[in-house]
Amino acid sequence: MKPLLAANWKMNLLRSEAEALAAEVGQHVVEYGDINFDVLVCPPFIHIAAINEILAGSPVALGAQNVNQNGFGAHTGEVNSEMLKQSGCSYVIVGHSERRANHSETDELTRLKAESVISFGMTAIVCLGETLAEREEKKTLQCISKQLSGSLPSQFNGQNLVIAYEPVWAIGSGLTPNLSQIEEVHSEIRSQLNKYSNDANDVRILYGGSVNPANSKTILSVKNVDGGLIGGASLNFNDFWTICLSVL
Ligand code: 13P
Repeated sequence: MKPLLAANWKMNLLRSEAEALAAEVGQHVVEYGDINFDVLVCPPFIHIAAINEILAGSPVALGAQNVNQNGFGAHTGEVNSEMLKQSGCSYVIVGHSERRANHSETDELTRLKAESVISFGMTAIVCLGETLAEREEKKTLQCISKQLSGSLPSQFNGQNLVIAYEPVWAIGSGLTPNLSQIEEVHSEIRSQLNKYSNDANDVRILYGGSVNPANSKTILSVKNVDGGLIGGASLNFNDFWTICLSVL
């Protein structure tokens, strides 16, 4: 499976910085030639249109970090799938743990968002992950299964769905699970996906949480890890590019 290296810029970068970073990523992907991995950048909403122009004609894909599940209407401050599609997005992250924790987003809402994204021909990146308390109570697999069953869109396949396993305690902390813990969760996700669909074999399962240039090669070579969702390290071009090249 072709790995996906996805940059989640979160609420960072002014427009000029975002444009410069996107241009550098785009230029390196083109210069590298026939690369055997997909690259995605997910800027804040306000920069999406500008980055779409920077990446015009580039193999680097553009994504959003969130979406509202509704169509047009009275939803002050929100952005819907049709708008994102028209602005050049082909991926949308849904159910990130920061949305779940800080904006009370549930599995059900995550599912509705994923279905909206898919209905406009984009790929939903559905995020899952246990808290430290859940891991310590040995409830990791239980938590992942519950989030997966509640958040999965009704119809999915390798083109319209990506799963990102991001342990909440690993995000931005410098901590990561060990390789066998990552392998255990990814293989559980893979077998659950196969239970829900006959068409799930090529759904990519990303790992996210404190991936950096020093640990990316080992983490991204774990079985059933089909790429990474990178936060902090994606804000620095050299770090992000080193992580991308580590899948080769
Ligand atoms: P960090 O790479 O900064 O830990 O963030 C991971 C993440 O939340 C990506 O969505």
